[in-house]
Amino acid sequence: MKDMQPPHLDQSRVRQSFRRGLESYHGSASVQADIAGQLAAMLQQQGAPRRFASVLEFGCGTGHLTRQLLQRFQADSLSLNDLVPEAAQVLQALDGTAPAQARFAGGPIEILPLPQELDLIASASTVQWIPDLAGLAARLAAHLKPGGWLALSGFGRGQFRELAALGSAAAAPSYLDADEWPAVLPHGMEILQITQRPVVLEFSSAMHLLKHLRQTGVNGHAQQNWSRRRLREFEEAYRARFGRNGILPLTYDPVLLVARKAA
Ligand SMILES: C[S@@+](CC[C@H](N)C(=O)[O-])C[C@H]1O[C@@H](n2cnc3c(N)ncnc32)[C@H](O)[C@@H]1O
Repeated sequence: MKDMQPPHLDQSRVRQSFRRGLESYHGSASVQADIAGQLAAMLQQQGAPRRFASVLEFGCGTGHLTRQLLQRFQADSLSLNDLVPEAAQVLQALDGTAPAQARFAGGPIEILPLPQELDLIASASTVQWIPDLAGLAARLAAHLKPGGWLALSGFGRGQFRELAALGSAAAAPSYLDADEWPAVLPHGMEILQITQRPVVLEFSSAMHLLKHLRQTGVNGHAQQNWSRRRLREFEEAYRARFGRNGILPLTYDPVLLVARKAA
């Protein structure tokens, strides 16, 4: 996995980028909203129980997945986490649908003290920001009860393939294709279902495309400064290579999985 990691993930820049995008994220992140719905539905289709005693969701952001989970499942206790402390406001935004025992803890999930004996660990569109995914997966699995459930989504190597081809540094550190996940999960975790299906968004200009990236916070690892000249050169190169009838495509490459710890 080494070749896909930038020399150093500037987590404060990732946090800053998502914090700045927090207000606009919920309405702009249509792909992530769909992914959250699909992930919760996949968990249900795989036979997860209607009720969980103890649930952890990390990288909750504005709560796309939280809402989808609470629509389908009951959680006696719910621990939410995000790198951005301001994401704590998700608890109010849940409008009384959160269980009485719901709490939020900010900070990187890699070092967050975790509750023991979790029944479900869930996370949508976040694991791509974790440089040592195998390390995190082992820690998460150790905190699951036997028979506990894991529902995750990240992105595959085709994520933002247009930007990567044009030399952008916007890539997150851990884009993983579906066939790479079995080697990342520790022994004792069985993948019940995994899917990878690209989604292509279309933009009328480079400006709109970059605005979308900024509003969703997903370019946390890229430079923010764009001179007029740089923007023009970027747009020309994008159109020359990927333009279709005046439209600029942007590929998302979601990977969704549901796994279970051996009982
Ligand atoms: C693309 S958003 C996804 C938000 C939400 N799960 C959804 O599906 O809409 C990614 C989130 O992961 C958070 N994040 C990034 N790195 C993280 C880390 N190391 N620990 C916890 N959260 C992290 C970001 O702050 C951001 O809110």
